[in-house]
Amino acid sequence: MKKRPHVTVNVAMSADGKIAMVENREVKISGDRDFKRVHQLRNGVDAIVVGIGTVLADDPKLTVKKKYVDDPKKPLRVVLDSGNRIPKYSNIFTDHNYLIATTVSTDDRNRVKCGDGPRVDIPILLEKLYERGVRKILVEGGGEVISSFVKAKAVDEYFVYVGSVIIGGRDAPTPVDGDGMISRDDLIRLELITHEPMDDGMLLGYRVIYHD
Ligand SMILES: NC(=O)c1ccc[n+]([C@@H]2O[C@H](COP(=O)([O-])OP(=O)(O)OC[C@H]3O[C@@H](n4cnc5c(N)ncnc54)[C@H](OP(=O)(O)O)[C@@H]3O)[C@@H](O)[C@H]2O)c1
Repeated sequence: MKKRPHVTVNVAMSADGKIAMVENREVKISGDRDFKRVHQLRNGVDAIVVGIGTVLADDPKLTVKKKYVDDPKKPLRVVLDSGNRIPKYSNIFTDHNYLIATTVSTDDRNRVKCGDGPRVDIPILLEKLYERGVRKILVEGGGEVISSFVKAKAVDEYFVYVGSVIIGGRDAPTPVDGDGMISRDDLIRLELITHEPMDDGMLLGYRVIYHD
């Protein structure tokens, strides 16, 4: 991979490792201190990335709230949406500071084609974002998108907030879904860099160790 932005993943999961309920129903996993931390993280990056699954489930704004940050910036909001499924009235479209990463040709300057595969090619997306001056990215989910970043060896830091709740369900999404690893050699090793009680849960932060 050529030069790419620094990539941080942040996700909140239940004590049993789920990031939402079955059928992608949204659930509050963390509390106000963690929200503040997430908004500060957002304020320190050039772009926030989510998948279309998250937009369809939660319709997030992906902005930095003044309630949590004194001097809120406006990071670029990026949605991975190969087939342009994003609904017209999504909260992402409240201003023009967004980018839809697709796999179809487009003249729209708020859309970018990333590869010819069925899904957005992560190394190509990162290259294109880097060309646009993006140096730091926060990937907020969901599990499919995080899995693709992990498999592309494109995650530098991984933060997971573990909330004191059980969600359950074999089909409820987890932080890293996708197809999973088949060989032990493919497992991703982490180095714990921070652990901190927060709200009624625990924040864990890791550096990702990739071996080529
Ligand atoms: N607790 C948390 O911190 C947190 C954070 C975020 C989301 N969530 C939850 O996560 C759930 C959504 O997660 P999800 O896994 O279903 O969806 P997702 O990861 O948000 O989006 C997945 C979709 O993105 C598109 N995509 C395009 N390129 C991709 C690529 N290279 N790799 C992966 N996906 C790509 C695909 O749709 P196309 O093929 O149509 O493009 C794919 O189905 C929701 O329930 C949401 O509430 C929880």
